[in-house]
Amino acid sequence: MEKLNFDNGDKIDIIGLGTWKSENEEIKNAIHAALDAGYRHIDCAYVYGNEAAIGEALQSYFANNPLNREDIWLTSKLWNTAHLPKHVQPALQETLDALQTDYLDLYLMHWPVAFQPDLKGFPSDSDDFLSLNEAPLLDTWEAMLQLKHDGLIKHAGVSNFSEKKLRHLIDKASERPEMNQIELHPYLQQDDMLDFAKAKDIRLTAYSPLGSKDRIPQMKAPDEPSLLENEVIKSIADKHEATPAQILIKWAIDRKTVVIPKSTNPDRIRQNIASLKVELDETDHQKISELDKHFRYVHGKFFETEDGKYENIFDE
Ligand code: A2P
Repeated sequence: MEKLNFDNGDKIDIIGLGTWKSENEEIKNAIHAALDAGYRHIDCAYVYGNEAAIGEALQSYFANNPLNREDIWLTSKLWNTAHLPKHVQPALQETLDALQTDYLDLYLMHWPVAFQPDLKGFPSDSDDFLSLNEAPLLDTWEAMLQLKHDGLIKHAGVSNFSEKKLRHLIDKASERPEMNQIELHPYLQQDDMLDFAKAKDIRLTAYSPLGSKDRIPQMKAPDEPSLLENEVIKSIADKHEATPAQILIKWAIDRKTVVIPKSTNPDRIRQNIASLKVELDETDHQKISELDKHFRYVHGKFFETEDGKYENIFDE
């Protein structure tokens, strides 16, 4: 498995199993199929609501196989209700308890957006949010770094951060984020972010690499383009006797970004890790580079408020 390096010598597998939208009933099978297939990296988040099921799946796998917690890379994410510094460690503890572990390999601030701590579900109006003055990103970030110093997480990073917001942390915080997990695929290539991250030694993880077609209807636009059915991707797949998903995954790997395709289907889980065997050539990369249209499947508008408390989440 190809890996990306961290400054302290730790290495993260370039393919991880995505778990956003994975139902609790399906997850045990999915985790076991993934570990059997050679995945050693699982991307989780508190808000996905399935960390306890993932924890149980890992324990039952460890009990019957020669594999331990230390053999697996676990990422999770701090939810928006826990941005106030006093809530950061308790939020991590909930995730650790659910996953049945005493440390995370990587903990990310899920969004540069803070909710009222007692909010259940998703916000319905501006009062459900804390402003960035009430819950500054820098304070949340420093509380996350404290978790690293306390040995509860090995690495700290962010998700859905623009270059502007990354710069803010780089300039003001005691340590920079080691990872930014963002939406990346051929319709949203974000080459500027790749250049910036490389220059600042920040790793990137590509989410929604396959277009996340299993999002809930409220999160989908009726006319959104399909990545898996794109003709260019399909023709490159045919050329390599591979599947469109494998082309999309290998494209992300060739750009040296971690990639976290989600599947709960054992065949597709195996198919996705087999992307490593596909060899894209320069012509393939050229053709795919022409597909860029800065299209977001996860547009972030659901976190914008009419009064401007939050606007232009991605600063673009
Ligand atoms: P399933 O879980 O039934 O396999 P993303 O990783 O971009 O969020 O996309 C996840 C979606 O893509 C899910 O609907 C998932 O369905 C589907 N998917 C995952 N792997 C493949 C594959 N190899 N071919 C086609 N669809 C896939």
